[in-house]
Amino acid sequence: MNYRHAYHAGNFADVLKHAVLALVIEHLKLKPAPFRVIDTHAGIGLYELQSEAALKTGEWQAGIGRIIDAKLPAAAAEVLAPYLGVVRSVNGPGPLTRYPGSPLIARRLMRAGDRLVVNELHGEDHEALERLFAGDAETKVLALDGWTALKSLLPPKERRGVVLVDPAFEEPGELERLVDGLREAVRRFATGTFLLWYPIKDMKSVAAFRGKIAELELAKVLCAELSVRSPDESARLNGAGLVIVNAPYTLTAKLKVLLPALARLLAQGEGATFLLQELAANASQHPG
Ligand SMILES: C[S@@+](CC[C@H](N)C(=O)[O-])C[C@H]1O[C@@H](n2cnc3c(N)ncnc32)[C@H](O)[C@@H]1O
Repeated sequence: MNYRHAYHAGNFADVLKHAVLALVIEHLKLKPAPFRVIDTHAGIGLYELQSEAALKTGEWQAGIGRIIDAKLPAAAAEVLAPYLGVVRSVNGPGPLTRYPGSPLIARRLMRAGDRLVVNELHGEDHEALERLFAGDAETKVLALDGWTALKSLLPPKERRGVVLVDPAFEEPGELERLVDGLREAVRRFATGTFLLWYPIKDMKSVAAFRGKIAELELAKVLCAELSVRSPDESARLNGAGLVIVNAPYTLTAKLKVLLPALARLLAQGEGATFLLQELAANASQHPG
């Protein structure tokens, strides 16, 4: 396990993933019944943007760094508000120095009585996550293999909630594992919302992945993709996508505002674009 999210925290891919996670949690809060958030590959939860790792790549500057003080059209500002509110809440006044990972974004948006389960296999990162949530009785920190967690933690007793599956993509075949993991997870927790993150490098693999998700024939599946440049070099992270199963009914309209705004603000070259597509029979497509 070489991947450390500290090098990448707050990059364009995190902005997309975390903005959507925040919207899903805000939707769950519309009903008073408690819900659960499960994060199978959680990272450390809070990142120092002046750390050696963050400074080495500078990725956050082309991600959250471009968004936090941007003059946004009103509709985009509204859609980004829950996410940006959490980013601001972990920073003091002045320039950004810290960035919240998915566990902390979730926790800050959740209510008393909602439960968070965060899982991280890397030893040091797991310890950091435990320190972050020490004394929080409504958050459980685990150190399981994420793919095992995806099975063993479902269904949650609340029978409502969101599961984020955000692997490191260090091992070959992780796109296929995502498909297999989703098939089994939905069987266990059919009413849950699932957010699956995937990298966009080589477009052929991404198209095959989308096809395999569509073949699962799940009722309500969206994919939302953001590409920051044309995919000319298939070894680079040219974009990032989310498969969203059981998306809140309001999410499509919000993504239609969010994705073009992010494609404009986070472009790193020619060909920055987005895709919003249903991954089901009779799929409709809204290319950017
Ligand atoms: C992309 S990062 C997670 C970022 C985090 N979800 C966020 O958005 O802030 C992926 C994480 O998965 C962890 N990881 C790698 N292999 C794992 C496994 N088999 N089970 C659980 N965690 C794993 C890595 O240590 C890394 O922290």
